[in-house]
Amino acid sequence: MDRITQILHTRVNISGAKPNVTPQFQCSSFLADSDYFYTRKGNPNASELEEVLQVLEGCRFARVVTTGMSAITVALRLLRPGDHLLVDRLIYGCTYKFFKDFCTHYGIDLDFVDVTHPDLKQAFKPNTRMVFFETPTNPFLKTISIKRIREVADEFGPGIKIVVDNTWATPYFQKPLELGADLCVYSATKFYSGHSDCMGGVLSTNDENLAETISQIRFYSGCILDPHSCWLIRRSMQTFSLRMEGHQTVLREMKEFLQGQEEIEKIYLPEINSQLQGYGCILFIELKRQFEDRADAFVRHLKLFERGTSMASVVSAVAQPFSGSHLSLSCQEKDEMGISPRLIRLCFGFEKPADLKEDLKNAFSKLHE
Ligand SMILES: Cc1ncc(COP(=O)(O)O)c(C=O)c1O
Repeated sequence: MDRITQILHTRVNISGAKPNVTPQFQCSSFLADSDYFYTRKGNPNASELEEVLQVLEGCRFARVVTTGMSAITVALRLLRPGDHLLVDRLIYGCTYKFFKDFCTHYGIDLDFVDVTHPDLKQAFKPNTRMVFFETPTNPFLKTISIKRIREVADEFGPGIKIVVDNTWATPYFQKPLELGADLCVYSATKFYSGHSDCMGGVLSTNDENLAETISQIRFYSGCILDPHSCWLIRRSMQTFSLRMEGHQTVLREMKEFLQGQEEIEKIYLPEINSQLQGYGCILFIELKRQFEDRADAFVRHLKLFERGTSMASVVSAVAQPFSGSHLSLSCQEKDEMGISPRLIRLCFGFEKPADLKEDLKNAFSKLHE
């Protein structure tokens, strides 16, 4: 046999190798007698990560996709032209913009509302098919009662899907599917990855039909997470509980420190209750009005907090929603949401809290220059 032919058919037999970590199955397709078929449909690395996420959430089905926005896109594709979608107004800027720009495109009737409003029922219509919200919300970290939204939807009629973006709470602290949600979406780019080194998204559900539809959408639209990213996130999940516990401890200490800072008008943190049983890493501070023009200087003087879109990572980060996560919104939309340049998002990583405090103290002192 020609060596060229031979090279093409050389494969190491790994069944006897027994690695203690599942290797990367960096392949696009599988042989005909495999349990798998084509990586666009499924891959052992995706299956292993999905199994880990199912165990974590205590749910029947998790499906991994390329990014958090991809998970949200898949959720939107569950709707048909003419369906009505209710979306909470306090939501990640790209999600807001995506719904606003693309619902018309897909023929979906969209309303942004405050889902915590006592008259929420008035917002429902005969064609309402889905309610979508984050809890805690981005920004302001308001906790929205999932049970209440379920009850209001059920009062209105059967079959309305409740979709919760559970990225910031994670199933470690909040399990929406146990509280009446039909579907959860996640940006795995955040706490699941935890190291700002890859992107990912997840959809989780207990509904078999929904899981099957999601798998079909994922297969035909080609948005499954690639084996390498699956492998990286699966690896990160080994330290997930340690990171979440650590985030919670650091946040408590940093909150106490921030409460003593005279430059801060308000600290935004979510309410911990039977729904959200813990919380870590991300909070918002609003500087006093007199420092509005210096907010930029405060952010720029932080040395240990990375500026930009990084979040929920081992390294601390700072951002201004006004010019960052909600940049794509008009000034009027930001105003309606209450997002001003004085609003600052702080994400605490695993630097020593004493160093983070020192860094913040220096930056606060710049507000007075
Ligand atoms: C709550 C929330 N949902 C979804 C997303 C989008 O995730 P991704 O950036 O992985 O597409 C983000 C991104 O910041 C987010 O904060």
